[in-house]
Amino acid sequence: MKRILIDTDIGVDDALAVIFALKSPELHVEAITTVSGNVHVEQCTRNLLITLGCMELKEIPLISQGEEAPLTLPLVTSAHVHGSDGLGGISESLSPDGTRLYPPLEWPLSSMRGPDAIIDLVNRYSGELILVPVGPLTNIAKAMLNNPTAMRGVREIVLMGGVFEIYGNVTTQAEFNIYADPQAAQVVFNFGVPVTMTPLDVTHDVVLTRDRLDAEANQRNTRLIQFLRDSTQACMVYHQGREGVKGLYLHDPLAIGYLLQPDLFDVVDAYVQVETPDNLTRGRTVGNLRAHRADSAPNARVCVGVDADRFLRFFLDRVVDGH
Ligand code: BDR
Ligand code: CA
Repeated sequence: MKRILIDTDIGVDDALAVIFALKSPELHVEAITTVSGNVHVEQCTRNLLITLGCMELKEIPLISQGEEAPLTLPLVTSAHVHGSDGLGGISESLSPDGTRLYPPLEWPLSSMRGPDAIIDLVNRYSGELILVPVGPLTNIAKAMLNNPTAMRGVREIVLMGGVFEIYGNVTTQAEFNIYADPQAAQVVFNFGVPVTMTPLDVTHDVVLTRDRLDAEANQRNTRLIQFLRDSTQACMVYHQGREGVKGLYLHDPLAIGYLLQPDLFDVVDAYVQVETPDNLTRGRTVGNLRAHRADSAPNARVCVGVDADRFLRFFLDRVVDGH
């Protein structure tokens, strides 16, 4: 069993990652921290509670709200992809009787804010805790800057972020999570804890289409399946307009998938740095993925390939078909 902490700017694919992790017995989700990114952190926390409210959980992880803004740059969001509420607009949906269709779980937040909650948990499970950031790296970097000694106890970081050999999704150069807070990303890559990345180069290989989701759901209508259908709808329509496929990339679930089934991925070691100036290449992850030409000691493991069919089968078995 792996102890993990998920740090998320919870939008549509983040919610899928959270569900995937919570439905995986190999993982124990100790805590979920929220951070501004896809939408403002307050809405992220609400989205997390809405997501958890659709699951029948025996145990609720510690929930802590984190940073409102990146380390130095102003907040950029991606509401155009995830909807103004980050969940495709469903957070305010009403049932025919006028009650909320997706009420947030009523559960108290930790009194410790994101970075402090992370430090506290790393201290408690020093050498054991794996951090899984699937949003901008602000909370993680702050925790490292505030208490580097404690944060040396992080076992490993498995993050969704970055792009190397294809176009980015914010600019041609940059992927959203790194673009949103490049300073934070640079802190994380230079900190010295082992980092594994699932960048866009692999997440763009894994698309969940409407047809596939509907086929897997097979007319079942549990609360969770309804949530999966409704929360993904606007994002799928967005991607259809942009890329011609009515589906969405399973960016954040891939980081969870790596923890569960690393053999589905091809991985290389690399020395990764981040372009921090706020210019044309802001947020670019720079790394030589051709190991034989590496000119610096590696600081990251980068996923460069994924068995997309097997991953999708595994993900759907857990998220749609699992109990
Ligand atoms: C990343 O950006 C967010 O919009 C997604 O949730 C994912 O974490 C992909 O670039
Ligand atoms: Ca995310």
